[in-house]
Amino acid sequence: MELSFPLAEAPDAEAAEAGRRLFAGGAGFLKGVVAMDGLPPADRAEVCFAGRSNVGKSSLINALTGTRALARTSNTPGRTQEINYFTLGDTHYLVDLPGYGFAKAPLPVVERWQALLRAYLAGRPSLRRAFVLIDARHGIKEVDEEILTMLDRAAVPFQTVLTKADKVKAAERDRVLAQVRQKLQTHPAAFPELVLTSSEKGEGIATLRAIVASLA
Ligand code: GTP
Ligand code: MG
Repeated sequence: MELSFPLAEAPDAEAAEAGRRLFAGGAGFLKGVVAMDGLPPADRAEVCFAGRSNVGKSSLINALTGTRALARTSNTPGRTQEINYFTLGDTHYLVDLPGYGFAKAPLPVVERWQALLRAYLAGRPSLRRAFVLIDARHGIKEVDEEILTMLDRAAVPFQTVLTKADKVKAAERDRVLAQVRQKLQTHPAAFPELVLTSSEKGEGIATLRAIVASLA
């Protein structure tokens, strides 16, 4: 059966309110983790944000939490090099993963990140869902396939989030959506709904908040 991967519908009033309330409950930086033994206890619902360097992971966390600079954003790809943990109220962790596909990082550094990422994705029982961010202008690239396959193998359900929607015209966006839908057919761990977001303009943010709240 072909999965159609529709865009997630806007949440109903109740789900939107649950999302709003969760993200209004205060978010804070907990710690940056560089090895598995640095992870906090797996005692809360956790979601992580994965994606290529510069795709907009940190910006999305800031938009969701309504903060300007909770997660560091930058024009320099590869800035976020640790697994950054943020608390959301006292029920959730938001996890900003190191960006991948940054060619300028030295190979041993890249390999260390990959090993940590693989260990994290495969070994985190409280991880409810991974959000994989894909630039709405570019679609799924070869480097993205690596993490999608990693998520399939670890049986971590992942939901694709298209970022920077404000930077793409309708025709181009539709072409990218078709490409993404096609690529996701081969990934059993893909959640069958996409989310289109703009951290700049707020598009899709209430929807994503409601989705996270629904995973408690
Ligand atoms: P790494 O930490 O290096 O992996 O990058 P990242 O995925 O965290 O990206 P980050 O949030 O730092 O954003 C990279 C650049 O994209 C920044 O200049 C952001 O301002 C810009 N950006 C992120 N999201 C959006 C968006 O929705 N719209 C627009 N126009 N720009 C965005
Ligand atoms: Mg970042």
